[in-house]
Amino acid sequence: MLRPYLGVHCEPGNCGDSLVHFAFRVVFPACCFSTDWRHFSTRNRMAIQKVGVVGCGLMGSGIAQVCAQTGFPTVVREVSAEIVEKGLKNIEKNLARLVEKGTISEAQKGEIRGRLKGTTAVEDLKDCDLIVEAIIEQLPAKRELFSALDGLCPAATIFASNTSSLTITEIATATKRPQRFVGLHFFSPVPVMKLVEVVRTIATDPAVYEEMVAFGTKLGKTPVRAHDSTGFIVNRLLVPYLLDAIRALEEGVGSIEDIDQSMKLGCGHPMGPLTLLDFVGLDTTYYIANIMFDEFRERRFAAPPLLKRMVLAGWKGRKTGRGFYDYSDPQKPKAMKF
Ligand code: CAA
Repeated sequence: MLRPYLGVHCEPGNCGDSLVHFAFRVVFPACCFSTDWRHFSTRNRMAIQKVGVVGCGLMGSGIAQVCAQTGFPTVVREVSAEIVEKGLKNIEKNLARLVEKGTISEAQKGEIRGRLKGTTAVEDLKDCDLIVEAIIEQLPAKRELFSALDGLCPAATIFASNTSSLTITEIATATKRPQRFVGLHFFSPVPVMKLVEVVRTIATDPAVYEEMVAFGTKLGKTPVRAHDSTGFIVNRLLVPYLLDAIRALEEGVGSIEDIDQSMKLGCGHPMGPLTLLDFVGLDTTYYIANIMFDEFRERRFAAPPLLKRMVLAGWKGRKTGRGFYDYSDPQKPKAMKF
């Protein structure tokens, strides 16, 4: 009787010969001569040991901090030395706060900081096992970045995007490794928020996906599983709520303070929707709304005229000192008058 073994059939009694034959005729040449040998040799040992993060803004610096806190040597890349410096300073501030609160010791702070390396060179990411991208929410920029990384990194490296609304499949197809591509959507402030959405496309290898779910857990987050549907789970629900809060303001249903108080005190939300919009960034929300509207063509995702005008005026929320509130005194934000 013929018995299948790894796709090779062998007769009882001479299976050993067949396996030797299989090893020398198939496995050995595949390892040595295939152009894809790195993929073969690293796939089995693949466990994330070093992480790369692209982008050191609000999200990128938070992701880098959490990775370094978990124990991963982490390289974080930005386009200029000033932005790298600003992001690392922000991480140092967060770590100092943790020391003050007694969550970590001064020595642990030093170790965490020691695991973080800032750079402006994409080449410095080439020996990372996982690269998480957290750059501007624009498709051409993300595709260009991943195409460059694809040429630099071994075939085993896993790529992840922190996009909140772009289609992971469309970013992944800028590379030759869509099977090793996922979405890892973190929430702001990353060191505090417990959730990570782990997003799979129809092309994602199930083993890679499970590895990323485990990675999320290792970071101390609670991973939820989501398909590559625009906005995933959280923004599918959150974005219409935020946009409706702006529409309620436009229609004079309530003032800025009263809309925020209502959701805080009436529903137990930690922040009201207009404060949350300032916190996330009005420009970011505007981009997300436009992408979701393009995808679903539903009014609930359409950016209200007031949001568009605030972004055009450069009132992008906390980061620009002005949004629905004026942050001239950051301790006492004052509601804007429109
Ligand atoms: N970085 C690190 N830690 C921070 C932080 C930051 N930027 N801001 C606050 N913290 C920490 C504080 O140190 C404090 O820690 P301890 O409890 O250990 O002392 C804790 O968070 C609470 O902070 P505060 O007491 O100062 O203030 P708070 O109680 O108002 O909490 C908050 C702040 C956690 C941001 C809270 O207001 C909150 O949960 N807001 C909602 C945040 C939210 O909805 N985020 C999701 C946005 S959507 C998104 O990110 C994705 C997208 O695609 C748009």
